Amino acid sequence: MCGITATVGADDVVSALLTGLENLEYRGYDSAGVALANGAGVEVVKREGRGDDLVDRLSTASLSGRVGLGHTRWSTHGPPTDANAHPHTDCTGELAVVHNGIVENHAELRERLRGAGHRFTSDTDTEVVPHLVEEYLAAGGDVETAFRRAVADLSGSYAVALVHADEDAVYATREGSPLVFGVDDGAGTPDAAYYLASDVPAFLEFTDDVVYLEDGDVIRVAPAGYEITGTDGTPVDRPVESVDWSPDDVEKGTYDHYMRKEIDEQPTAVAQAVRGRVDGGAVSFDSLTAGIFNDVARVQFVACGTSYHAALYGAQLLRERGVPARVFLASEYAVNAPPADEQTLLVGVTQSGETADTLAALRSGQSDGIRTLAVTNVVGSTAARECDDAVFIRAGPEIGVAATKTFSSQVATLSLLAERLCRDVRDSRGDDASELLAALDTIPSKIGSVLADSSAAELADRYGDSDAYFFIGRATAHSVALEGALKLKEISYEHAEGFPAGELKHGPLALVTPTTPVSAVATGRHTEKLVGSIEEVSARGAPVIAVAPRSETAVAEAADDVLWVPDSHPELVGLLANVQLQLLSYHTATLLDRPVDKPRNLAKSVTVE
Ligand code: M6R
Repeated sequence: MCGITATVGADDVVSALLTGLENLEYRGYDSAGVALANGAGVEVVKREGRGDDLVDRLSTASLSGRVGLGHTRWSTHGPPTDANAHPHTDCTGELAVVHNGIVENHAELRERLRGAGHRFTSDTDTEVVPHLVEEYLAAGGDVETAFRRAVADLSGSYAVALVHADEDAVYATREGSPLVFGVDDGAGTPDAAYYLASDVPAFLEFTDDVVYLEDGDVIRVAPAGYEITGTDGTPVDRPVESVDWSPDDVEKGTYDHYMRKEIDEQPTAVAQAVRGRVDGGAVSFDSLTAGIFNDVARVQFVACGTSYHAALYGAQLLRERGVPARVFLASEYAVNAPPADEQTLLVGVTQSGETADTLAALRSGQSDGIRTLAVTNVVGSTAARECDDAVFIRAGPEIGVAATKTFSSQVATLSLLAERLCRDVRDSRGDDASELLAALDTIPSKIGSVLADSSAAELADRYGDSDAYFFIGRATAHSVALEGALKLKEISYEHAEGFPAGELKHGPLALVTPTTPVSAVATGRHTEKLVGSIEEVSARGAPVIAVAPRSETAVAEAADDVLWVPDSHPELVGLLANVQLQLLSYHTATLLDRPVDKPRNLAKSVTVE
């Protein structure tokens, strides 16, 4: 949700900025822009549309400078236009600002600044920032002081970076929006280059040495080095950490789309989630000491989108083990929290660890004294840092806006967590714990065979011109049905809905016609009931695609088509079925020529509530 980037000291600042923007495009792609400071002034080039359009414009502009900013936008205030694209400048054109987040008091600040004679050229909330800095500079003081004073006037969430014509430096700060700092070739060395960004993939091909900035930190970065201070100007020490993601992880390679690459990466992703965490029948996470959950009596999950579906899956596994577990959409939890006490564990499931709704829900739980656990992909993310504990799903970076491999890694991690919680909370193992753990070990190779043998492309072709698509399932298969529908709607723009299979007859059946294929997800449990649901839709003429393990012959016979998955533990079959549904969505979207990795109106990381 908007990506900001800054580069200081690189040999080719423009190309480093464009690399950063390309790698951050999953955060927004309504417009893009860069600003360079070169001692003689600040030059800004920006335009509506994707990064490629900016590259075209830059090819005719000759920009230079050792210090620069970049921005890729997901519109909140004002439509995607050249004028609303970042960077934004002040009245003098001597300073430029990029911003991710929302300045909640922008209207009042704008009025104040207009009253003081400032001229605004965009509809954005961001534009108040350069004018505020200009105002404070005019009142006397240096750029840093003016920047600090301007930021102190803002309320809301922001990661903001600024360049000024007078200085070979970038100033940046964050409050509630992510901002990471990358150091290449050692701080203070003559060849050092520095990068600021909303997310690590922006600069991963230059450096894997990262400083995770905290809310309130102000960083000044110049070619000679950097300094981080708190809001009061006192130096703060933030460690440089190495990330274990590789630059190849953020390359598309020979694939047409990141989504397809990430679907194919699932055997590795799931293996990484499980590796080293199972010893015999016991589960251990490095970050969680033994007995840590002994006093937990119930679990509440908060999450959004795909992570919500993974949480539904995980909660089902917990309930099957006798641990009370409920799942809440984070945006609802934040405004209407259910009763909880000190024996409640609040688990935030979030790939990015930066989703504003999920963070708000976790914070609301924390403010009520509830213990929190983040299940996330991103080390150093806000969720990982703010929660009492964190477990990482180890999927590697996910660039496609549609979450794929991270769903599988979340489900694998939550399966382990269910076993662990069940042991701690109930002081006993689930009846079939060892079977589930043994089965988990075979899931990577079974995902591999789904990927090798899938007939999803054929079915996408057969049903590609349908009026709508429905997905049904029970228990864990219900969460997979919801996820199958979300995936299809977000990347194909076709109408798709998931339902609990048994609920069809209470309303959704009215939507079922011969031109609305229904995908029925089978797990090896509740077979007769699922066959009953299939018959209900078949009787209305709807084609049925069963997504089923090989041994589910009754389901397959009742359906018109089958997407097979290997037999496995019934609690893990849904994970395999989901891979088939990812492929079905992917092929449907490519047939319709949709921009699979960057669906309209969406962004990977939703950092506004
Ligand atoms: O980073 P998070 O897991 O917290 O993100 C949650 C949702 O925004 C995300 O899953 C979204 O629904 C995806 N686009 C789904 O493909």
